[in-house]
Amino acid sequence: MRRWRRVMACSVLALMLTGCAGQAPEQAEQETLLLGFAQLGSESGWRIGNSESVKQAAERAGVQLMFTNAQQSQEKQIKAIRSFIAYQVDVIAFPPIVEEGWDNVLAEAKAAGIPVLLVDRSIKISDPGLYAGFIGSDFLEEGYKAARFLLQKTEDWDEVRIVEITGTVDSTPMVDRSRGFSELLTGKEKYTIVGAISGDFLRSKGKECMRQLLKDYPDANVLYSHNDAMTFGAIEAIEEAALIPGKDIVIITVDGEQEAIDLLIQGKINCVVECTPLIGDIVMDLVKKIAAGETIPRITYSIERVFSEWDDDVMDIPARGY
Ligand code: AHR
Repeated sequence: MRRWRRVMACSVLALMLTGCAGQAPEQAEQETLLLGFAQLGSESGWRIGNSESVKQAAERAGVQLMFTNAQQSQEKQIKAIRSFIAYQVDVIAFPPIVEEGWDNVLAEAKAAGIPVLLVDRSIKISDPGLYAGFIGSDFLEEGYKAARFLLQKTEDWDEVRIVEITGTVDSTPMVDRSRGFSELLTGKEKYTIVGAISGDFLRSKGKECMRQLLKDYPDANVLYSHNDAMTFGAIEAIEEAALIPGKDIVIITVDGEQEAIDLLIQGKINCVVECTPLIGDIVMDLVKKIAAGETIPRITYSIERVFSEWDDDVMDIPARGY
């Protein structure tokens, strides 16, 4: 039965599989762990780096990978999870595009006896027993880090008028990055978040949002952007408006893509809060433990740092890999 299931998964799903490619049936026959990974899309360099990290780590770990891309659609992500259930994968892992709306499909996975690992983003759910654990970044802490940099940077300013470009509405990074940031500024009179718009984590929308924000709040002097992709678009809009990014408008971004580090070195970005997508190896480690029936920690956070214009070593930052 197990052999049939593996061989069938490899042939029928050839188009959506990456891990099975080129694998002989004899190899597939072995007790290989089959992981269904329902990626949410490819909206940013971060996301592309994350997909690569998962694929490469699966190969290194000898895990067969069924990998799908939901192209920013929760409906497609749910459909992919249902297909993994139908193929009786050993473990399902996915980064939920938004926090709500997962109860039914995760109850179906549980009923089928397939454990679920949340990767990168979290969910709000009535029964916490519907998933085994979470691995990813502490987005609330990222919001705190962004605010801590701003507080120090603007210590001797009279007025700080912040515009915020947020990520996908109701996604964990959007909710927590906003909450952490505003929490540390609350009660401090000179700080005002004058405007906030969602740029859906997309570069093109980041540019549109910044154009709008500059129109609505021409006296804004800080941009807090929830990811690098949107920041890159926003910088284009700032330059189009004949303003100097990093000087006329202080820019704080989250992710730490190579392009963001390059812009930090050029002085166009003031602070980069790291959020690493390179978590494939830890995902595989947890997936193996879950498949072996071991209990994993409820939350595994990545270790991350902040890069800023005050660092002496910006020129020596190793290649980011995404
Ligand atoms: O969930 C992580 C976020 O999603 C990253 O900050 C962003 O770049 C990605 O799209």
